[in-house]
Amino acid sequence: MIKFNHVYKIFERDIKALDDITFTVEKGELVFLTGPSGAGKSTIFNLLYRDEHPDMGTILVENTDIAHLNASKVPFYRRKIGFVFQDFKLLFDRSIFDNIALPLVITGSPKEYIKRTVDMAIKNIGLEGRESLNPWHLSGGEKQKVALARALVLNPPLLMADEPTGNLDEESAWNIMETFVNLNKNGITVLIASHNKEMIKRVGRRVIRLEKGRIVSDALV
Ligand SMILES: Nc1ncnc2c1ncn2[C@@H]1O[C@H](COP(=O)(O)OP(=O)(O)OP(=O)(O)O)[C@@H](O)[C@H]1O
Ligand SMILES: [Mg+2]
Repeated sequence: MIKFNHVYKIFERDIKALDDITFTVEKGELVFLTGPSGAGKSTIFNLLYRDEHPDMGTILVENTDIAHLNASKVPFYRRKIGFVFQDFKLLFDRSIFDNIALPLVITGSPKEYIKRTVDMAIKNIGLEGRESLNPWHLSGGEKQKVALARALVLNPPLLMADEPTGNLDEESAWNIMETFVNLNKNGITVLIASHNKEMIKRVGRRVIRLEKGRIVSDALV
């Protein structure tokens, strides 16, 4: 599903955010990206989301070379990816309902379908009755759930989450991890960047460890 082939990303002042990265993720895998701050985890996501371009190398996603994807095709390509950002990126000028509905509105889904789908998503994350509130009022764990619901609303084959348990207590963090594992069991490919060693161990899947832009290990835990 994902193929990085000798990928380099170099920022100004010669910072090699990614320094010859090669790895493959098969459809249906759940993979952790780990490593110290600045190792290049978010850069991998930004490349996959087509927010950044590699300086060298190729990135294939379902056999599409995304580095050379025509700009006009990017929005369509992004529909295949549910992305839970490190800082959630919820919109505070609209309700919880409208945050989750956004990808459906952008892609032109019919109103009744949007209502039905978003109502169900809100029920699934236990926020019934609060859908018209501004997400500002939610706790960190609840914001995370809204971000995840929005990421999943188009049923993407690939889910990426950048530090999804960063600011959560242990129980909420584990709930989110269980959600990812269950989604993966239902067939979605999942890529998670995380520092949380205990959580990674508990989930017990493949872990790619990065240091200074290089892969230093790739193994099952
Ligand atoms: N837009 C940018 N401009 C300049 N340098 C950048 C940019 N984005 C990332 N970097 C640099 O690239 C390196 C890798 O950053 P990245 O955000 O990928 O690390 P990370 O592994 O996600 O770290 P963290 O665990 O702190 O989130 C860092 O040295 C960072 O400063
Ligand atoms: Mg990061």
